[in-house]
Amino acid sequence: MKTRKALMVVAVAAASFALAQELDEATVAKGAAFSRRAAAESMVLLKNEGATLPLAQGGKIALYDVTGKYRAGGGGSSDVKAVRVVDIPSGLKEVGFVLDPQSRETAVVVIERASRESHDNSEEWFELSNKERETLAGIKAAGFAKIVVVCNSGHAINLAPLAEDPSVGAILWIWYPGGEGGAAVGDIVSGKVNPSGRLASTLARAVRDWPSDSGFRDYRGAVPYEEDIFVGYRYFETIPGAKEKVVYPFGHGLSYTDFRLQTSDVRSQESEVLVSVRVTNTGKVAGKRSVLCYTSQKGGKAEHPAIELRAYGKTGLLQPGASEELTLSFAKRDLAYFDDEGVSGNPGSWVLDQGEYTVLVGGSVRDVAPAGSFTVAAPEVLETPGFKLRTDTLARRLRADGSYTAVPLAYPTRPGRLGKGKVRKTPMETPSVTLYDVADGKATMDQFLDQMTLKEMLFLCYGHPRVDPNGTGSIGALAKFGISAAQTCDGPAGIRRSIKSTYFPCAALLASSFDPALLREVGTALGTEAAETDFDILLAPGLCIHRHPLCGRNFEYFSEDPLVSGVSAAEYVKGVQSRGVGATLKHFAGNNREATRRFEKDIVSERAFREIYLRGFERAVKEAKPWAIMTAYSGINGYNCGEHYGLVTGILRDEWGFDGVTMTDWWTTVPLWRELAAGNDVKMPSDRGEIDRKAAKEGFGVTLAERAEDADLLTVEAVRTSAARVCRMVMKTLRFAREKAARAESAASAQ
Ligand code: GAL
Repeated sequence: MKTRKALMVVAVAAASFALAQELDEATVAKGAAFSRRAAAESMVLLKNEGATLPLAQGGKIALYDVTGKYRAGGGGSSDVKAVRVVDIPSGLKEVGFVLDPQSRETAVVVIERASRESHDNSEEWFELSNKERETLAGIKAAGFAKIVVVCNSGHAINLAPLAEDPSVGAILWIWYPGGEGGAAVGDIVSGKVNPSGRLASTLARAVRDWPSDSGFRDYRGAVPYEEDIFVGYRYFETIPGAKEKVVYPFGHGLSYTDFRLQTSDVRSQESEVLVSVRVTNTGKVAGKRSVLCYTSQKGGKAEHPAIELRAYGKTGLLQPGASEELTLSFAKRDLAYFDDEGVSGNPGSWVLDQGEYTVLVGGSVRDVAPAGSFTVAAPEVLETPGFKLRTDTLARRLRADGSYTAVPLAYPTRPGRLGKGKVRKTPMETPSVTLYDVADGKATMDQFLDQMTLKEMLFLCYGHPRVDPNGTGSIGALAKFGISAAQTCDGPAGIRRSIKSTYFPCAALLASSFDPALLREVGTALGTEAAETDFDILLAPGLCIHRHPLCGRNFEYFSEDPLVSGVSAAEYVKGVQSRGVGATLKHFAGNNREATRRFEKDIVSERAFREIYLRGFERAVKEAKPWAIMTAYSGINGYNCGEHYGLVTGILRDEWGFDGVTMTDWWTTVPLWRELAAGNDVKMPSDRGEIDRKAAKEGFGVTLAERAEDADLLTVEAVRTSAARVCRMVMKTLRFAREKAARAESAASAQ
């Protein structure tokens, strides 16, 4: 215990006590303005009969805020101590409306739903409440000229009663729009901003309409993902009888103006397809337009969804009569499916299936037009990954015709055996080489690590108390070696628990913008605020798939579609990291239910896992090179994600080339040794004293690799590899640069 205390004292004492700064005024103003614009450009106008919206400016509104609660964001890591929160009443007033309960001009009804991590939402709240129904009935009886409904929710709701009610003129879907969300609602309702958002997840009529609902509330154990690849619109647009369950389809969103789309060219080249689309504003007011490009496929050997999103882009603000040419592109590799059954004759491979591919261009999956086609004469094997995930006892999987069939045999999966490494037996008082020397190229990482005892290397493989009292923990923190205490902080919608910061719209709303540039801007704004409050690693973005409409964390994740998830995450990460702050993709992978997230090990076919649940992570890793990835609490096919060697090393590192740091989620239930052996670098936020207990029992004179029970799992080399990755991440931080400069300065002044 003495050594640990000594290490801790050294670590904390030397770490820069840079308490969180206050955001400067300019940053606060910029953050608020951007949060408001991002929310307004992402909100989805689902219904607008007879141009109910926009309302005449300065008009009267009778506001029916049924619960009186405005939800800027969701509970848990996404919560933010906001600089300010503009709720919907304030936002409507801010743009000049007069709130008058006696008026019968326009009724605005707000439907609000809470959602938070570690909980799932109840089916009861998927439906309108009695109070909401009574309020609507009263409004209809009162003879209002217009009725507008605003949905401020962290999960899907059954909107059929509103969609099918002719007296409800307009429905605006706003998820959790952040600290300026009320003002953004005012901007949309007044027409100051023309809505341009689209649904990034389907809204259906009943919870049981989603195939994932069977078993979702069975919290006793593993959930079999029997719907397989048919998730979201892939299910509703493919499986017989599913279409009519949809109230508002994927990609649906209205505007106050009209647009004409003319596809001028579809070019199928060797490795990619290019689609040029001319967008013209043919209406009377300026507006932005996203264009979504899908493909459908027939004649293949394998099962495929009826339609799949392949690319999308958004115009700038087009004045009436103005046009803009968008060029969308997607790689042929993106069309490949993972053949886990061997129908192509190549089991365990990415295959571009034979058949006729049609390119479709438009908006929602129901509002597209064929724009071109190309043929693939025979199945092409594009890649056969070295590592395969075990497909354990998934009894059956859904097929495109609605039938179920058995799943292929399980592949054997076991943690790989890592070589032995070298360690010192006794600690050095004063290392001859520091991390600064490695950064200056005066020493190699190996020379640097050779100075460490196993215990010192292990110290880098778990989290340490936060230096900033408002953060979520330190990583590194070995000052005698020049390893800074990198500070981590939440969260996806803003710097959490620290000083007051900007409350940005939630991920699900931002994805609805279908504007990659907007996600980049949000990431940049978040990175700016993290850097200004002296944080090094932001624990965001979250990009798990919306598999079930009531998962408690859907608001914090982007979409039911892996392309939207991957593109949104990649742009967000590029933005954050452009400010010298690390981003952390989370929760890797397949965290689709919150209530029993720490314990469940869901059962997923390898095809569904790779094509749906991993695809977004793969894109974000390859396109944005995040500094870190956080593994999920949940598990798949018998292993917790944090201890899943195939996931954390086999796929993430060996296949995708990820070279950053992996960390566990907070307080996982798995022993640190197993996570380390899987190649998971840092146990957060602490090892709970596990290392001391092991040392007390077995001593560190003996390297772990010599311990029989660890020989198969953990070797010194594994610890050394993780320690090196942690050091490389610390070297990227602004904190390390500051401390290195300060050290150089003090050395110079000492001469
Ligand atoms: C967990 C959450 C992570 C991260 C962590 C630190 O509960 O799942 O995403 O936010 O807390 O606060």
